[in-house]
Amino acid sequence: MKNIILHITKLSKHFALSQSVMNRQTAEVLSSVELQVERGTLSTILGSNGAGKTTLFNIISGFESCQQGEIWFYPSGKNPVKLLNLKAHQRAQAGIGRMLQGSSVFARLSVEENILMSAAPGKSWQNFYSSETKTGGQHSLLVKRAAGFLTRTGIDYEAVRHARAGTLSAAGQRLLAFAMLYVSEAELLLLDEPCSGIHHDQLPVLAAALEILLNEHKTLLLIEHNLDFVSMIPGTCHYLTEGHIQQSGSTKEMVSLYKNEQGC
Ligand SMILES: Nc1ncnc2c1ncn2[C@@H]1O[C@H](COP(=O)(O)OP(=O)(O)OP(=O)(O)O)[C@@H](O)[C@H]1O
Ligand SMILES: [Mg+2]
Repeated sequence: MKNIILHITKLSKHFALSQSVMNRQTAEVLSSVELQVERGTLSTILGSNGAGKTTLFNIISGFESCQQGEIWFYPSGKNPVKLLNLKAHQRAQAGIGRMLQGSSVFARLSVEENILMSAAPGKSWQNFYSSETKTGGQHSLLVKRAAGFLTRTGIDYEAVRHARAGTLSAAGQRLLAFAMLYVSEAELLLLDEPCSGIHHDQLPVLAAALEILLNEHKTLLLIEHNLDFVSMIPGTCHYLTEGHIQQSGSTKEMVSLYKNEQGC
């Protein structure tokens, strides 16, 4: 029997095209999406621009509402959580981690401050600093673990720890974001296009970082257009089109389907 961590049923979402009460036109983006994610695995969502992939992540993490559907999250050793009943910060505290499309770190904070932020999902920066005194050595342990992760991915932690995160290369910033998720207590990580803007030569480094996250028993749900990257780490793939998951299968099958559909 499959060990499911996330179960989405009949999820539908439309956006209002006008604020006017006279004009109630809407655009349906997601229509009865059904998705199951198995614990400890990598699942990738493929779909063309505007297919609704980020909207789906926004609904899971609580940044957007939806009109219909249910999402159940099954954290290990805890009671199931009906995600749609929770606010975004409560979902983060329940174990949903997120890497946003286009930006993944706090550019003006140092590398080390970014890592420390991952210790307190859903807390303000001020609250975070006041919790430091309560948690004692916990934060230095976090930094040590993140430093270990970054070192394994080829980053000299001591050389960059006080640098502003925004000064790292694009790949360095993604690796820092992965390190933050690595040390966080999040079990399910939603990664939205981590390879966008990344040089082809750096893809194996990011793929190796995802392998480390998987070995740490994280569950990864990935959105990615870079098919070379997707093919580097086999898992389950879902093809999102016309508002729903049209087909699911192995990475190889779904990449081939996607290429055929996109004519590339
Ligand atoms: N807040 C919003 N209001 C109105 N329409 C929106 C809103 N957010 C997204 N959309 C529309 O919903 C559709 C899906 O957007 P979404 O960002 O989920 O696509 P995507 O699959 O992530 O695309 P990409 O691969 O380009 O990132 C698009 O047509 C987009 O314009
Ligand atoms: Mg998107």
